[in-house]
Amino acid sequence: MSRYNPSLVVHGGAWEIPDEEVKAHLRGVQKAIEKGWSLLASGASALDCVEETVAVMEDDPTFDAGKGSILNTDGSVEMDASIMDGCRFDAGAVAALRNFPNPVRVARKVLEETEHWLLAGPGCEAFAVRHGFESVPVENLLTERELKRLQILINDPRFRSPHAFGGKRGTVGAVAMDKKGHVAAATSTGGTPKKLPGRVGDTPLIGCGTYAEDGVGGISCTGWGESIMKVMLAREVAEHLRSGKPPVDSAEACVGILKARAGGLGGIICLDRYGNPGMAFNTPRMARGMMNAETDKPFISVD
Ligand code: GLY
Repeated sequence: MSRYNPSLVVHGGAWEIPDEEVKAHLRGVQKAIEKGWSLLASGASALDCVEETVAVMEDDPTFDAGKGSILNTDGSVEMDASIMDGCRFDAGAVAALRNFPNPVRVARKVLEETEHWLLAGPGCEAFAVRHGFESVPVENLLTERELKRLQILINDPRFRSPHAFGGKRGTVGAVAMDKKGHVAAATSTGGTPKKLPGRVGDTPLIGCGTYAEDGVGGISCTGWGESIMKVMLAREVAEHLRSGKPPVDSAEACVGILKARAGGLGGIICLDRYGNPGMAFNTPRMARGMMNAETDKPFISVD
């Protein structure tokens, strides 16, 4: 029998999710887990699983990714995403991508079709078109909710993006292990409120928002990007896992490091080298879920 435990963990952002938004977050995570687990259970690779799982959440305006993304100061939508294959120890990422509803799928193409890890801005958009992705008008990604938020923030000169943390909807991510023991991770975001056009956060940076390495584990992070970058949070979790620390303890220790060293708010999901899950957050709530062969139904929670 395989000693690997096919497993999937998902997050839909760590923040002060208001009570009236709890249902939508639980539903969104549930839908993503159902999609991802149906793939893993039928023998799909961890890499395919995390791509599809994250794409489901990008399509759900509940989350700050794809449709529903938070807006830049000029009203545009610029999204970041990354995907890492622990088996090949290879990754693909996109930054400040406009007009494509599923940045994680473009990131996967960067992984498969280029020798680069990260494409940004107009070059990335041209790459997406060359690879058959359909560009959509910005209206397809906008929500009334984010337009209203921008209007309020634009008129508040004292607002700084760290103020939003804990209070802004969240980045999405998934980490999976398949039955061969390969691990993969993917993360996608619309970024932070009132960000300048061209701002790039932790999500597309391997070792910051995302990391996967067979024999070590996989990680996806959410929260204030600048603080996550400061401590290279995903890599920090990986080093805890590499040392043999249990995944729950690793995630908790690293959320502590995020707060202590960078004053950051956020959350982590991870799997260790055997597919055991860990999750931790230092915000009031984090939308998250987990499913493996030993659980007869997904664990899904915001508390
Ligand atoms: N963690 C998402 C961002 O700061 O862009």
